[in-house]
Amino acid sequence: MIIDLRSDTLTRPTAGMLKAMFAAPVGDDVFGDDPSINKLEATLAERFGMEAAVFCPSGTMCNQIAIRIATQPQDQMICYEDAHVYLYEGGGAAYHSGVTARRISAPQGRMQVADIRANINPPDDVHFPRTSLVCIENTVNKGGGSCYELAEVQAIRELCDEYGLHLHLDGARLYNAMVAKGYGEADFGRLCDTISVCFSKGLGAPVGSVLLGSRDMIRHARRVRKVFGGGMRQAGYLAAGALYALEHQVDRLADDHAMALRMGALLEARPWVKQVVPVETNIIIFEPTMSVQEMLGKLEAVGIKAVAFGATMVRLVTHLDVTEEMERAFVERIRGLDAD
Ligand SMILES: Cc1ncc(COP(=O)(O)O)c(C=O)c1O
Repeated sequence: MIIDLRSDTLTRPTAGMLKAMFAAPVGDDVFGDDPSINKLEATLAERFGMEAAVFCPSGTMCNQIAIRIATQPQDQMICYEDAHVYLYEGGGAAYHSGVTARRISAPQGRMQVADIRANINPPDDVHFPRTSLVCIENTVNKGGGSCYELAEVQAIRELCDEYGLHLHLDGARLYNAMVAKGYGEADFGRLCDTISVCFSKGLGAPVGSVLLGSRDMIRHARRVRKVFGGGMRQAGYLAAGALYALEHQVDRLADDHAMALRMGALLEARPWVKQVVPVETNIIIFEPTMSVQEMLGKLEAVGIKAVAFGATMVRLVTHLDVTEEMERAFVERIRGLDAD
């Protein structure tokens, strides 16, 4: 039995989700005719208390559209130094939008207001790129799935208002953060200009993300989505998977978090683990005493799949497809490595 903890993107649709997808009413979404996509967009907009939403194939596309509509070429965005928008989106901000990134180190990836403030460029000095956008991530993938406190986001909002900056939230795992912290969609909807939400991660749908914002922003976003090649046709089958996930697979994220906590504690007690980043949601990041490649090899040899996270860290992610039986086997196999 392989225990695949490389990512929460690995999940396959459940029987119930597939049934809902097959039964979805569809139409041509580029014409605005897909009832399932229209329903997903309207549902999300309503829940977040935002004016509009647009369905996209991926979280990356949502983030890149947000950057494109919030900036002009030559501008600068501020983000955590290991933010997904900077590190894992293929240089998209530079490529699609002509935007540089001012990267900030932050405890577990949660940027602090004073640090953001210190990195806003003087608006009237032509030497500097114009700071126009702040991107936050919640949960923070590279921060070990850490969650912002609402008060922290509120403070960032106030700073953005002071300087006229757009605040984008990369909410690829926002539902994990909401479940962990007990916040609701509207808490974030009222604080952010744009929010991207992924359905293909912990929520367990096969494809799809939604970008939320004002009516004008989303009108612009649809234009950018088209030029990025993201205008899809009968994609309501996918939106139906996302709607099913919203309905049935949000509360269960707490189970993923509880399992990650247990796995983190187990790892923390191993003589071959130097440290585990505090576990807050479904992501476990740890530093082994050996090289990352050696560690991954040992795990692979006992049927546990993980990924390298930078030069010194290993990441494991719990998700819908990790059964109780797999967790029991994980415990045995991890303990077994002590004897190696
Ligand atoms: C924090 C974060 N943002 C954005 C994305 C991008 O999502 P996608 O793989 O759907 O492009 C990911 C993917 O893992 C992510 O972890």
